[in-house]
Amino acid sequence: MIFVDACLGKKTPYTPVWMMRQAGRYLPEYMQVRAQAGDFLRLCKDPEKACEVTLQPVDILGVDAAILFSDILVVPLEMGMELQFLKGEGPVFSHPIKNQTDLDKLDVQKAIDGLEYVYETIKRIRGKLAADKALIGFCGAPWTLATYMIEGQGTKTYALVKKLIYSDPAFMHALLAKVTEVLKGYMERQIQSGANVVMIFDSWAAALEESAYFEFSWSYMKEISAYLKGKYPHVPVILFPKGISGYLDKIDGEFDVFGVDWSTPMELAKEKLGHKYVLQGNMEPTRLYSKEAIDAGISHIIEVMKNERHVFNLGHGILPDIPVEHAKYFIKQVQTRTKL
Ligand code: CP3
Repeated sequence: MIFVDACLGKKTPYTPVWMMRQAGRYLPEYMQVRAQAGDFLRLCKDPEKACEVTLQPVDILGVDAAILFSDILVVPLEMGMELQFLKGEGPVFSHPIKNQTDLDKLDVQKAIDGLEYVYETIKRIRGKLAADKALIGFCGAPWTLATYMIEGQGTKTYALVKKLIYSDPAFMHALLAKVTEVLKGYMERQIQSGANVVMIFDSWAAALEESAYFEFSWSYMKEISAYLKGKYPHVPVILFPKGISGYLDKIDGEFDVFGVDWSTPMELAKEKLGHKYVLQGNMEPTRLYSKEAIDAGISHIIEVMKNERHVFNLGHGILPDIPVEHAKYFIKQVQTRTKL
């Protein structure tokens, strides 16, 4: 698989490409299945429908990898937390974690087993996906998940979770350690079910100052990737800490691909990390509104990366109102212009 080879730093006939959030609301085909399923979580729990929407961007856009259709928040859900996706508000946990009693109620093994519908979805996708296309499994970073579990929903200030970091760090570490245990088992079962690559999304990395980031987030990301690389060295691990361009000097650990977000100049990522890791990214997702902007964005990234040790992607997720034709154009242009 070209995608797996590129993640492992091998030379490929062209630079493979996919897009974060490639299965989603900009595709009319997705909206149709989503409407049939009713709500979003029901779609995540339906292996047949989740498989169908995972394959849509492969069929429609010709991306080099499919990403499992699910959500990072199914993990706290199956650990025992009540979760709803409210229209206009996004995800909400009605009973956030407040104290040791709440933490003690969270069940590691129950979560790993309760995520069976994800493993079933992966088996179905791998059965239907073309042999030369990779399937990416994923999870959220312990820090990003713990933030949702404590705040109960998205937050601008991160006040509750940061209060814990600075006033009761032992409690925060106990929560992060528990989530990390679930994620090791969860990613392992995804690999055993057929995921060819795994990615960890740390969407809220930029909320933390440098020392706190390495203590409360990166250490746990590294722990999961070292565990997986020890057992499954042939499966590439992609880590995506969003928005930490100021901390790149301190990035280390056993993994294959560093996901570069759009706010980090590719030149900087290459200078600091390009010798150690393959880089993924990082076109500004809103360039997809204009073909001229897409052309210029691709040109710049090719100029920097020179088709070496690189996987093409956006620097974050595609937005719901992007014309499908522009998404197709982006994928095709990358595949054509990076050909050796
Ligand atoms: O990339 C893919 O195509 C795979 C599927 C995927 C989804 N969510 C589907 C989804 C992945 C990898 C995620 C990860 C995810 N989920 C993250 C980390 C990645 C990132 O973007 O930083 C986060 C923070 C979440 C939590 C989450 N899920 C939020 C905040 C929302 C609501 C936001 C919104 O757009 O309404 C979701 C819902 C969600 N997850 C949707 C999709 C396609 C939209 C649901 C819908 O209305 O159909």
